[in-house]
Amino acid sequence: MSTTITSTLQLLERYDRPGPRYTSYPTAIEFHNGVTHEVYVERLALMNRAADAPLSAYLHLPFCEHRCAFCGCNVVITPHREVASRYLDAVEKEIDLLASHLPDRRTVSQMHWGGGTPTYYTPAQLGRLFERVTRHFSFTPDAELGVEVDPRVTSFEHLEVLRSLGFNRLSMGVQDFNEKVQEAVNRIQSYELTRDLIVRARELGFTSINIDLIYGLPHQTLDTFTATLEQALTLRADRVAAYSFAFVPWMKAHMKEIDVAALPPPETKLALLAATVDAFTGAGYRQIGMDHFALPTDDMARAVDTHTLNRNFMGYTVKSTSDLVAAGVSAIGDVHGAFVQNTKKLPEYYEAVGAGRFPIDRGYELNRDDEIRRHVITELMCNFRLDVASVEARFAIDFSEYFAPELEKLTASGESPVADRLLTVSADRLDVQPIGRMFVRNICMVFDKYLPSRTAGPKPVFSRTV
Ligand SMILES: C[S@@+](CC[C@H](N)C(=O)[O-])C[C@H]1O[C@@H](n2cnc3c(N)ncnc32)[C@H](O)[C@@H]1O
Ligand code: SF4
Repeated sequence: MSTTITSTLQLLERYDRPGPRYTSYPTAIEFHNGVTHEVYVERLALMNRAADAPLSAYLHLPFCEHRCAFCGCNVVITPHREVASRYLDAVEKEIDLLASHLPDRRTVSQMHWGGGTPTYYTPAQLGRLFERVTRHFSFTPDAELGVEVDPRVTSFEHLEVLRSLGFNRLSMGVQDFNEKVQEAVNRIQSYELTRDLIVRARELGFTSINIDLIYGLPHQTLDTFTATLEQALTLRADRVAAYSFAFVPWMKAHMKEIDVAALPPPETKLALLAATVDAFTGAGYRQIGMDHFALPTDDMARAVDTHTLNRNFMGYTVKSTSDLVAAGVSAIGDVHGAFVQNTKKLPEYYEAVGAGRFPIDRGYELNRDDEIRRHVITELMCNFRLDVASVEARFAIDFSEYFAPELEKLTASGESPVADRLLTVSADRLDVQPIGRMFVRNICMVFDKYLPSRTAGPKPVFSRTV
């Protein structure tokens, strides 16, 4: 990786621009408020017919005690525990409502609790919420049950209770171990704290432990981040997510507090990514998709070998279920060909759920062209390749005819992903090359029908691709 840096720097100028992260296609920017409670109910009825197909489920628990300056998640910051307690009552009602619309489809193969910080709640409260889920839904024997925990507020007791409930996966925020960086982002978290929690989680039998890192934070340099990577490697997490800092102050006003002058420039950011890839692959990790790494023993590495990695709002996943139901404020479901997003506002959420209605704010119903493009983008993002024959068979299209303009853009002589060696294109395959992995978002952007209209205006919409 490091030997290619010089040419990569030249690519920066061409490819470092605003673009989506493609946790969905179409992206959330296309969601509109024509998708309502009624639409959701119809979709759930259709979903319910596939009684034997397992579901994915996501619960959003948005509370945190303090705000990290870099945070782009949908969070509610409050030290007042009673606010969070009221929320739990409402989520339980939403789970009941969901179950009443899915009388026959009650098996879950993948459940994730995210946030915010689920372990903001007490172990007893988490147990109560879990009981509400299992009152209606059951899990497949090999179900993945994952939860996001912030080491700063997570006790051994939290871990013990979560494990006893059946959770087998943990995801922890780390971001960076350097003190100066931690101070700049208002998140002080010692290496020892994280390490002790991981050791305890392993003793308890969690089978997959993930840590999140972010590159591109204020005051990060190649030296400081290399030290963070060395410390992170000693934790031997099963999975590592190394996110590019999405700096979106126009969407998240608190990010305006970040000193822009302290942010690493794009060439440093790219060097941080290259160092991350070198560090983890050099230590035996497999690179997964755009920004993840996994030990060869982890299911995620195996999914890469079998080309079965998938991507949804929960990130990269190894289980491909057709439908994802989501509960909680701002949560996004993917149900029978439609995305549905709950309101981000707590009062609206309480009001809707209290009245026995789904708190849907907006969503999107996919058409056939969306489905085709979604498949192409997901394959490229997850598996870094596309098998033309399988797309043609799946959607009954002639690939080169259907995507003629896109193929032209990809392969144009002079400046194009193929000319820049990011990608190879043949009659039967598209293959993202190792250097192209850093720019895979740019390659996917060529297949995004909505992007030109969304990036034409003066107002920024997406974070930058590097
Ligand atoms: C919900 S948090 C994880 C759980 C817990 N709240 C914590 O912080 O430890 C999800 C992760 O998203 C990542 N993240 C948040 N804001 C981000 C941003 N603006 N750019 C890139 N990654 C971000 C962080 O790595 C964070 O750990
Ligand atoms: S603890 Fe996690 S969710 Fe909460 S503000 Fe920090 S990064 Fe965001």
